[in-house]
Amino acid sequence: MTVSTVDLGDADLNAAIREGMEQVERTLREELSRGEDFLVDKVLHLVQAGGKRFRPMFALLAAQYGQRPQAPEVVQAAAVVEIVHLATLYHDDVMDEAERRRGVASANSRWNNSVAILAGDILLAHASGIMALLGTETVKHFSETFAELVTGQMRETIGAEDRDPVEHYLTVIREKTGVLIASAGYLGAYHSGADDATVAALQRFGQNIGMVFQIVDDIIDIFSDPEVSGKTPGTDLREGVFTLPVLYALREESEVGDRLRELLVGPIEDEDTLAEVLDLLHRSSGRQRALEDVHRYLAEAEKQLDQLPDNAVTRALRSLGEYSARRAG
Ligand code: IPE
Ligand code: IPE
Ligand code: MG
Ligand code: MG
Repeated sequence: MTVSTVDLGDADLNAAIREGMEQVERTLREELSRGEDFLVDKVLHLVQAGGKRFRPMFALLAAQYGQRPQAPEVVQAAAVVEIVHLATLYHDDVMDEAERRRGVASANSRWNNSVAILAGDILLAHASGIMALLGTETVKHFSETFAELVTGQMRETIGAEDRDPVEHYLTVIREKTGVLIASAGYLGAYHSGADDATVAALQRFGQNIGMVFQIVDDIIDIFSDPEVSGKTPGTDLREGVFTLPVLYALREESEVGDRLRELLVGPIEDEDTLAEVLDLLHRSSGRQRALEDVHRYLAEAEKQLDQLPDNAVTRALRSLGEYSARRAG
């Protein structure tokens, strides 16, 4: 399911967003086709593989609150967020030693780590060029956003140490995922000329939806068919990254919990252990408890919408939030 299959519930809005997304796609292709062929093909590899385009679509929706929802800056802002997201995917797959992404081979597995890192870097170069057109406020905003994202990735890499693992996890995902989705809301609204309070509400909505999005992604990594995610299931466990459903299952006072505590002491090296862990997780309360948090963050996101006018766009954002939670299945 891609985000473009979400019915926004209003014919005019559907048409406006479809038109905006076509412009975003054109911008992505034009911008990312510039450069030597040997770079362009690596970069277009994941662009063409698809992806949900959740962040640019959210940026376009956020732009509907301003006076200039169709400004070229809005399209550029939506595209820039997707480019930055894409750069982080190239780098993340190197860190996670992931084999599949967007239903195709990840760049690190199709080529190698150096290629994947450089493809991520050139994407950041493209993003910087577009940001320069959007002005210093956007460059500053991006510098803060990207610093937080990298902090989250680094925090995850270092691990919880003596912090509470659930609190650590929630901090990590706010930084590594929440801030960029918040940024989509911020930049879309800001460049459409929306007022400060609206921009801030959309940023907070994005932050909370980002939490929903990542917890759901982590649930999918363990509990879903790879056809759904386009990624290899159990990637986080193989890397020794214990996500929210795993952390909750590890706290369980039961035989399942006991066995998980025995097995989950580091990265999982062999397929038999992985299969046993996945089976234990299915029998645990981890998924259910993680879903309770998903609904808590979804409610928090929806609270932000109460501050916005009751119109078709706000209703569409509600659907987008529900869509993010529903992906968990
Ligand atoms: C993947 O993001 C990384 C996370 C933050 C969970 P998406 O799930 O938005 O990936 P694409 O863009 O659809 O491939
Ligand atoms: C996603 O991290 C966050 C970023 C890429 C910044 P994950 O490692 O959880 O995402 P997937 O599962 O590989 O998409
Ligand atoms: Mg990953
Ligand atoms: Mg990762």
